[in-house]
Amino acid sequence: MNAPLQNDVFLRALKRQPIERTPVWMMRQAGRYLPEYRAVRERAGSFMNLCTTPEWACEVTLQPLARYRLDAAILFSDILTIPDAMGLGLEFVEGEGPQFRSPIMSPADVDRLGVPDPETALRYVPDAVRLIRRELDGRVPLIGFSGSPWTLATYMVEGRSSREFRKIKAMLYDAPEVLHRLLATLSKAVSAYLAAQIAAGVDAIMVFDTWGGILTPTQYQTFSLPYAEAALKGIGAPVDERVIPSILFTKGGGQWLSAMADTGYDALGLDWTTDIRAARSEVGDRVALQGNLDPQALYAPIPALKEEVLRIIDRFGHGSGHVFNLGHGVWPDVNPEHVGAMIEAVHEVSPLYHRVIPA
Ligand code: CP3
Repeated sequence: MNAPLQNDVFLRALKRQPIERTPVWMMRQAGRYLPEYRAVRERAGSFMNLCTTPEWACEVTLQPLARYRLDAAILFSDILTIPDAMGLGLEFVEGEGPQFRSPIMSPADVDRLGVPDPETALRYVPDAVRLIRRELDGRVPLIGFSGSPWTLATYMVEGRSSREFRKIKAMLYDAPEVLHRLLATLSKAVSAYLAAQIAAGVDAIMVFDTWGGILTPTQYQTFSLPYAEAALKGIGAPVDERVIPSILFTKGGGQWLSAMADTGYDALGLDWTTDIRAARSEVGDRVALQGNLDPQALYAPIPALKEEVLRIIDRFGHGSGHVFNLGHGVWPDVNPEHVGAMIEAVHEVSPLYHRVIPA
């Protein structure tokens, strides 16, 4: 059993229920900008050792909470655990990012893929969730996550991080039915993976569609959005009937917010290129919004940084339904003091935007 939550302002904001201030957390909040993260990473020897050892994953998940007044913890893991469990062989090469030993090269490779059982092949993930939940002891909610089927497919077909996406685009144009089969398998895998994280105790889930924004509008509606929707629908209701809010983040997805708002997710993540006021008027009361400070604003002098924080809170405007975050992950060379200044600025200015205005 999870301890009752002492701070649920994040969950209430996702459900657009009244709150006293805007909650704040940060994508990649446990990561290389923190010296204490780099120290544990050194001891672990590799990033994958961190992910696959629940005690280490737990330790680094909690690190940013010891420093900052954050309103949520996010499971320390990676989106590429699913393809790894499907047998593609994930490696993180220093300075080069993720690579697969056996990427998808042919239709036969797609047809060989199975849906990994999260409690066996990915056991280290629900194990980490159970441990983190115990150690958090109800201080703040824990976010579980997955990559979107489309974003996972890009890595599995490209074999590594890519700029041009030649291989996945070739598959999209030359063999769309093969890509659809891959995406259908991935959406089942994502559902099972998220369901296991929920059963293990996460309080909210987020789907990262990092590469949805490289698609044309029609392709996005064909290859990304329906599978992100299917992944959510496939989770089913948790056995204990808890309500688990969900967030969908498409980097570069600002022009498709209305379609995204109709998929059943409770909230949409915004990157920094979208005006949050325009986004709010577009989605209305269908979903909450999360974001969207330019990650580079953390390099600015603190007064300029605070001004950006205030600008975003002010442009969202009065009332619930906003979770403050960056528009993408924090860069590894950011000064941790600037992260602290950003978080404190949200605590400082946001209560004004949640006062009940007398009739
Ligand atoms: O947000 C969090 O703090 C939770 C942990 C988390 C990580 N990766 C840890 C990580 C989450 C949610 C992710 C998601 C992820 N991983 C995404 C989607 C989000 C996004 O950024 O768009 C993607 C595309 C990946 C794949 C991946 N993993 C890449 C491209 C890299 C970067 C490689 C590099 O060297 O820069 C990673 C590695 C990774 N994932 C690190 C961390 C803290 C750095 C690894 C290290 O310590 O060396």
